[in-house]
Amino acid sequence: MKIAVIGATGHLGGAVTREALDRGHRVTGLGSAQVDVADVASIRNAVADHDAVVVAVQGPDRLVPRAAAALLEAGLDRLVFLGGGGSLEYAPGQRYIDSPDFPPEYLEIARDHAEALEIFRGAKSPVRWSYVSPPPVYLVPGEKTGKYRAEARDTPITDDKGECRITVGDYASAVIDAVERDSFIRERFTVAGGSTY
Ligand SMILES: NC(=O)c1ccc[n+]([C@@H]2O[C@H](COP(=O)([O-])OP(=O)(O)OC[C@H]3O[C@@H](n4cnc5c(N)ncnc54)[C@H](OP(=O)(O)O)[C@@H]3O)[C@@H](O)[C@H]2O)c1
Repeated sequence: MKIAVIGATGHLGGAVTREALDRGHRVTGLGSAQVDVADVASIRNAVADHDAVVVAVQGPDRLVPRAAAALLEAGLDRLVFLGGGGSLEYAPGQRYIDSPDFPPEYLEIARDHAEALEIFRGAKSPVRWSYVSPPPVYLVPGEKTGKYRAEARDTPITDDKGECRITVGDYASAVIDAVERDSFIRERFTVAGGSTY
């Protein structure tokens, strides 16, 4: 497949790019020097003729929700958007970002991600989007183990010890699996993995 990765110069976008290249896809890696993910015309120019677009960006001034709105308006076919885990729920209707224990240093970006999710869910757009939530806390450094679960749900996936974590390698793998399988269309999905899953 021909896949564009916006945010390929970043931590997670770089991991997704490597995973896609390892699987033999043709990948166009883009950073902020090549595209402005909050600008509809810029997106259209940068990703024309790609089968799928993966987005892994963050930035000031509510970049994440502005990007979500622009990507929907750009009229892409297939979009996988790397989101946040703070909008997952620890109890019915109780999101991690609304808990007093949520780390204050991550609150702003986590709220931006929650807003982006609402934008996707509220959109009447032909774009076949997926929004990926990592575990609320433990997206950890590490290689691909090949053992992970991905499910469309609003609560974290936990193992039999109640833990929820995934390595960056498995996270990148889950993203490219969703692209290849064309799965989780217009859904938020979340992932967790490791030897106990
Ligand atoms: N890392 C984690 O553990 C973690 C956990 C949960 C959620 N997330 C979320 O996952 C996403 C990716 O995280 P990350 O850690 O990989 O971020 P990162 O390393 O900070 O990379 C951010 C990327 O965004 C690009 N970017 C910034 N402004 C842009 C613009 N206007 N147009 C196009 N690209 C732009 C940057 O490009 P340049 O470098 O070229 O400027 C860079 O490639 C973020 O939304 C983050 O909040 C990350």
